[in-house]
Amino acid sequence: MDRIKQAREGFARVYGDDENVRVYFSPGRVNLIGDHTDYNGGRVFPCALTDGTLFAVRRRGDDTLRMYSENFAQEGITEGSLADLDALRGSGWTAYPAGSIWAVKQAGYAVDGGLDLWISGNIPNGAGLSSSASVEVGTITAVSDLFDLGISSAEAAALGQKGENGFNGVACGIMDQFAVAMGQKDHAVLLDTNTLQYAQVPLELGDATLVIAFTNKQRKLGESKYNERRAQCEEALRRIQTRVNAASLGALRSADLPALEDVIADPVLFKRARHAVTENERVGEAAERLSAGDLAGFGALMTASHESLKHDYEVTGIELDTLAETAAAYPGVLGARMTGAGFGGCCVILVRTDAAEGMIRSVGDTYREKIGYAADFFFASAGQGACRLD
Ligand code: GLA
Repeated sequence: MDRIKQAREGFARVYGDDENVRVYFSPGRVNLIGDHTDYNGGRVFPCALTDGTLFAVRRRGDDTLRMYSENFAQEGITEGSLADLDALRGSGWTAYPAGSIWAVKQAGYAVDGGLDLWISGNIPNGAGLSSSASVEVGTITAVSDLFDLGISSAEAAALGQKGENGFNGVACGIMDQFAVAMGQKDHAVLLDTNTLQYAQVPLELGDATLVIAFTNKQRKLGESKYNERRAQCEEALRRIQTRVNAASLGALRSADLPALEDVIADPVLFKRARHAVTENERVGEAAERLSAGDLAGFGALMTASHESLKHDYEVTGIELDTLAETAAAYPGVLGARMTGAGFGGCCVILVRTDAAEGMIRSVGDTYREKIGYAADFFFASAGQGACRLD
């Protein structure tokens, strides 16, 4: 069904028909390479997906906030107040729209009315495809449009991250919200998280295709580990700074590392720093390979990235390793890696199009045998960032 029609009908079922409803779409994202670099001043290379979250939203004359998600239909409508957003902290999915509005208000914008919000997402929650950033940036896009706030896409990304950090207590970087806000059809975004400079790189895959493989293991439990990894990188940097002048791990080169091992003085912290530094280098190289049409070279860097996330950063686990390693060994696969935070979630696989179906069957069989339940596979294409549809 047409998305606008679907959103209007969904809204009407929950809140009643109203022609003042506006419709928005906000994508999920898949990161092609560059994980756990965005909070280390490094580069990332994600693209927005064509799948994500559909919004139908109506402005209200009072302070009431009503929120409904088709993905949590059993919860019905959650009601809150603009004047007391804090009451919605930790409230499950509604903390994402609430946290986004909180961030918009914190930035000094006048959100002078409540909302009736209907959403429906078609990317799995907790899959590492940024369903939460999709909701955050989509909410901000809608609020900016409905209240004429003039928030740019880049600012929507920053505010979405602020909501996630300050309202939801996850110390994430800017990658997810940036990709969701700034993505362009058939492009990947090469973002330097240190300067926020970015380039839209055409995602020309020739006879290859991107496949996303979901472990069906949600990454929810990983949030404390995520914050722990981040703290380990900060500690490694603090020790490095007693010797050299580096603003972030992203400012270092792998050639600098051997001389820093003794000052880091901890094998675990050293491995964490090594991942951040080498992954940042891989991102730059991968973008060059892609632009040069060298898909084999690009894929090899993806696979090397997985290895580093497995051994140095230790954020993969048996589910992601089984998918990525089984895929990487399959003829016609150019590269495979976990994507996002890790600890469950998804892998992204670059595969020759004519080998894709066979790969999905074969990797799916191995995964089910080894893990005991099935993985899900999707074909991915790069779509547009959050926008109004009607
Ligand atoms: C999560 C965070 C991002 C990023 C990735 C890992 O998706 O939200 O900011 O740190 O993990 O690359």
